[in-house]
Amino acid sequence: MSVSAPLQLTLALIKPDISAAPMLVRAVFARLSAAEFRVVRSRRLTLSRPSAEALYAEHAGRFFHNRLVTFVSSGPLWALVLARPDAIAAWRRLMGPTKVYRAVYSHPESLRAVYGLTDTRNGLHGSDSPQSAAREIEFFFPEFDAEGWLDRERAAQE
Ligand code: PPS
Repeated sequence: MSVSAPLQLTLALIKPDISAAPMLVRAVFARLSAAEFRVVRSRRLTLSRPSAEALYAEHAGRFFHNRLVTFVSSGPLWALVLARPDAIAAWRRLMGPTKVYRAVYSHPESLRAVYGLTDTRNGLHGSDSPQSAAREIEFFFPEFDAEGWLDRERAAQE
């Protein structure tokens, strides 16, 4: 990460497999803190199936869509708004590759390598672009003014 990277927000999910185990949730928060993320908003909730389908609409029709939606709506999850310079890429690096077997071999320190189990039960989600971060933050935190928050933070740092 460049030291001059602008402050950015991303949307993270701690999926039902990790959220079911408080010790693992604490371990994820500890890794977030060590990587200098700020948790700007957090919410524990259970997604209905229609909400999970809306969240993953871009993957409708793919072979894994049904199992992904079923898993993500199977129990409580944590939705987090994370702030940091270069937050989108930094959180995806900390999570590691989507597929756990790849994470284990290529990024053994990553969260998915440590806590993930399978391609479906991979523990975590992170927005993949500024556009999806904006959409997903709005999806989970419709009351949160992300642009206003960033403007105020940037002004305070000047
Ligand atoms: S892609 O092809 O880059 O758009 O897909 P990718 O980003 O790798 O994955 C998109 C989401 O689908 C989940 N996924 C799967 N779930 C279950 N089974 C299989 N085989 C599978 N492959 C991908 C993956 O975890 C992504 O969801 P999130 O919530 O973003 O992790």
